[in-house]
Amino acid sequence: MSSYETVAKTSDIREGRGKAFTVNGKRIAVFNVDNENFYALDNTCAHARGPLGRGRVRNGAVVCPVHSYAYDVTNGRCYTDDRLRVRSYEVIVEDDEIKVKC
Ligand code: FES
Repeated sequence: MSSYETVAKTSDIREGRGKAFTVNGKRIAVFNVDNENFYALDNTCAHARGPLGRGRVRNGAVVCPVHSYAYDVTNGRCYTDDRLRVRSYEVIVEDDEIKVKC
């Protein structure tokens, strides 16, 4: 059964950046788009398993640090290759705590 798990405080992730966490045995990358909107995707890039949590976020997309494929942080769709996507997870922020449902 999935539930919301606290992964970090909002201040732990810089604006425009991501950070990876292990949640219920899954590696999940959480992204801070603009200090108000946070999103979570599988940390593993669907192209060649790069670490999406180390990518930068621009215009609502995270760019993989390995070959620069871009993913929509809201739903995990890949802009660079529309055959690829990564799983996305629901996120809520309560009292400055980021919680991910997985
Ligand atoms: S591993 Fe992410 S773009 Fe290639």
